[in-house]
Amino acid sequence: MSFDLVLFGGTGDLAWRKLMPALFQAFRHGTLPEGGRIIGVARDALSSEQYRALIRSRFDAVELAKRPSVEEFTRFAALLEFVQMDLSKPDDYASLATLLEKRQADSVLMYVATAPALFTTVCEQLARAGLNTARTRVVLEKPLGHDLASNRAINEAVRRVFSEKQVFRIDHYLGKPAVQNLFALRFGNALFEPLWRREHIANIQITIAEDLGVEKRGAFYETTGALRDMVQNHALQLLCAIGMEPPINSHADAIRDEKLKVLRSLKPWSGTALAQDVIRGQYAAGTIAGAAVAGYREEPGVSAQSHTETFVALRTEISNWRWAGVPFYLRTGKRLAGRDARIVVNFRPTPHAIFNSEIGMANRLVINLQPKDGLELHLLAQGQSNRRNSQTLAPVQLDLDFDKRFGSERVGAYERLLLDVIDGRLNLFVRSDEQEEAWRWVEPILEHWKNEVQGPRLYAAGTWGPSASSAMIARDGFCWAEES
Ligand code: BG6
Repeated sequence: MSFDLVLFGGTGDLAWRKLMPALFQAFRHGTLPEGGRIIGVARDALSSEQYRALIRSRFDAVELAKRPSVEEFTRFAALLEFVQMDLSKPDDYASLATLLEKRQADSVLMYVATAPALFTTVCEQLARAGLNTARTRVVLEKPLGHDLASNRAINEAVRRVFSEKQVFRIDHYLGKPAVQNLFALRFGNALFEPLWRREHIANIQITIAEDLGVEKRGAFYETTGALRDMVQNHALQLLCAIGMEPPINSHADAIRDEKLKVLRSLKPWSGTALAQDVIRGQYAAGTIAGAAVAGYREEPGVSAQSHTETFVALRTEISNWRWAGVPFYLRTGKRLAGRDARIVVNFRPTPHAIFNSEIGMANRLVINLQPKDGLELHLLAQGQSNRRNSQTLAPVQLDLDFDKRFGSERVGAYERLLLDVIDGRLNLFVRSDEQEEAWRWVEPILEHWKNEVQGPRLYAAGTWGPSASSAMIARDGFCWAEES
């Protein structure tokens, strides 16, 4: 099956850091369909030869399991071409159309990895140039807007040109093997399903922690913040995956319908909940892995008085029969104690205690997403250390390490998603109504913060965020997993 993949923003950060390495890995794994062509598009005056050299030079800076040999890269580079375009100029789209028409590939994929302000223009111009044919798919990267209204405006503009089944909205968390394993755990096994409900689960904690700061993206981050950057999309998608009902089949819309229901069931925000159940923080100077690091306000491109949040912790509920009353805690932040994404499912304690044991870490399922990918089941057992007292149990852990089991060179998130775009599989992409619902739910938080003068609470880099985050969860009588 032949394809033309047009990469708008072909010299940008995303292209060389994520997309090209992912395409190369697919090529190396032999999963990239034969007869493909990858066309980088940007304003730069480059020949295709220069573009290939540029990508090659940047490959040295990206993480690849194994560096490509000259011969291997040359074979990959044969797929690459470059087209110089000014995305505001209709004539430039006409030349692109001529190039694409010559080959008549089975599918034409327009990957819009540009500033979001250009999404609408690109879609409109593609239509004008007659490039919105039935063979065309369009791929959009986040951020898709910065609030509900701007998200809707983009989705409407895209809808005027493409039908929903032609639109692939990326949330790269859905491409992570660990997230697909979560679907497998829940819907490929019957073991946990009877327990997966309010009667047996005390609370669920979703953490996406990063130890990195904002790096060179200070200017972008200033107007974005952790709520828009991570909660509205990645964290809520994880919440959907853990909380959704089993879909009727594995088709994209069956899955997306169930995710949408979760988003629609999220408890609406009250004034009290906004004040008590949402904590925003910002990192101050601190220590990461033994090295001193600067605070957010000292980062390049960041205002010295910035109120942008680099940390969010919040409590919500899914108001339906399965989950009513079960708190879901979401937490994400930069410059935290480590790079660690996981979902912790805390089951209810035994109804009556006959042993002297601290529940602590037990009675818990941990779904590790990254850097480890796997499951840990924490139970209580009679351990060696309790020889003198058979009434005392100790926590033990059952580990299932997917990296060990399946090998660590698994299909990366972007590789998975790009192959799905090429194959036209929409399961791991976000539908416009899901995205809008997620924006609708985070908007009251954004509004609340606008009027809150005190700004985010500072936390030292290298910690788990402001202490208010622990106080929030403690109010329910629980604690974050690492505190138990
Ligand atoms: C991106 C955010 O969507 O996800 C970044 O814009 C963040 O700020 C990144 O660092 C985290 O992704 P991952 O795959 O490294 O967890």
